[in-house]
Amino acid sequence: MRSHLLNDTTAEQYRRSVTDGVERVAAKLAATDRPFTGITVDALSPRIDEIDLDQPLHDTGAVLDELEDVYLRDAIYFHHPRYLAHLNCPVVIPAVLGEAVLSAVNSSLDTWDQSAGGTLIERKLIDWTTERIGLGPAADGVFTSGGTQSNLQALLLAREEAKSNDLSELRIFASEVSHFSVKKSAKLLGLGPDAVVSIPVDHDKRMQTVALARELERCAKDGLVPMAVVATAGTTDFGSIDPLPEIAELCEQFGTWMHVDAAYGCGLLASLKHRDRISGIERADSVTVDYHKSFFQPVSSSAVLVRDAATLRHATYHAEYLNPRRMVEERIPNQVDKSLQTTRRFDALKLWMTLRTMGADGIGQLFDEVCDLAREGWKLIAADPRFDVVVEPSLSTLVFRYIPAAVTDPAEIDRANLYARKALFASGDAIVAGTKVAGRHYLKFTLLNPETQASDIAAVLDLIAGHAEQYLGESLDRAS
Ligand SMILES: Cc1ncc(COP(=O)(O)O)c(C=O)c1O
Repeated sequence: MRSHLLNDTTAEQYRRSVTDGVERVAAKLAATDRPFTGITVDALSPRIDEIDLDQPLHDTGAVLDELEDVYLRDAIYFHHPRYLAHLNCPVVIPAVLGEAVLSAVNSSLDTWDQSAGGTLIERKLIDWTTERIGLGPAADGVFTSGGTQSNLQALLLAREEAKSNDLSELRIFASEVSHFSVKKSAKLLGLGPDAVVSIPVDHDKRMQTVALARELERCAKDGLVPMAVVATAGTTDFGSIDPLPEIAELCEQFGTWMHVDAAYGCGLLASLKHRDRISGIERADSVTVDYHKSFFQPVSSSAVLVRDAATLRHATYHAEYLNPRRMVEERIPNQVDKSLQTTRRFDALKLWMTLRTMGADGIGQLFDEVCDLAREGWKLIAADPRFDVVVEPSLSTLVFRYIPAAVTDPAEIDRANLYARKALFASGDAIVAGTKVAGRHYLKFTLLNPETQASDIAAVLDLIAGHAEQYLGESLDRAS
């Protein structure tokens, strides 16, 4: 069994095993002609159920054969140009190389004595990001597992800075289309059920600052504590960017922590063309960035950044067995002092490899391409009488709905759109997402793949229309 341990004596086996795996995946990627096979849960489950985990195969080749059967064949492939569903990007090769290196060396970023250079690399990337945001000389931050965790940590710091003894008094203001992790965080942080005040959005799905001002005033009048405003720079559904400068003004006026959830919009930090769309982000007290959304990084890769490094102390605990207080005086850099996690992956290495290979402009160029594609797609849908499209994109999502000429019942149109999404998924030809707008079912393209062309968008629209028409035809048959 020791032959499976990665060490000085098994380096050759490691090379062979990993190369075998890489070759399988490379062959798979090269041969993928659809984002999905369309397999059902019922068809796939028995294949996994029948595997006896207490009967190992011992041989890497046999394990990879089995993996082909239970995973690789039917996985959802984000690199395919017709994967248009959620906020998953195709990944860049330097980052995948980083992933291979980081899991083999297996540094843990909690303490210097488990990572050494890894700690310094992460710190340099945090500084790079805070500089791109413009958070100022006292800024700091830490890598996290994703936007949900980054938002949670930011709101934890905001809660502690609010200095209220009564958690039920605290209020968080976020737009009605903000990410659900804001509400989850409020619950985890022990706030009351009314803690998150939902602020309406305007026609472009941006937070209405007049409504925000009104709610902040109401909060003050009611003797409650405005703990934080969460501005979203790139909403999950619409990619809309809340008016950051106006929100910053209000936060200053009401003494409220400003958190910018730029999990999606952070790609603009590297943009060569559209950086101005997130102007005002530099006034935040904390920022969430998800490199695994718009920096073309593999999951997980995210960070929470703060204007004032001192606020990270709210996540600091010392333990004799790990990071005794004296290490602070000895200036030993232990990232665990800033993190909610203890053992933590060296995800930063992926971004490091990316920046050192492609440079930030390379990432920005790719993100600009998908933003431009979204604009093209928007024009296409807006000009197509078969569809209703919700807002002009600020980033790279398009929310739309098939509207058959002959049907006026909105519930029937809902069903046709739901059916089309399901049928498309089952066909594996393309994958799109769905959401609700004003109580009605819509479909969504999240465009994060620069390989996707306007012709793909047009083709998928035709597929959707075809499936929806099929549903409506069958529905008519059922009624007659
Ligand atoms: C705006 C926004 N914030 C936060 C998140 C959560 O990020 P993660 O899925 O990395 O936890 C998402 C995910 O889609 C998001 O769109």
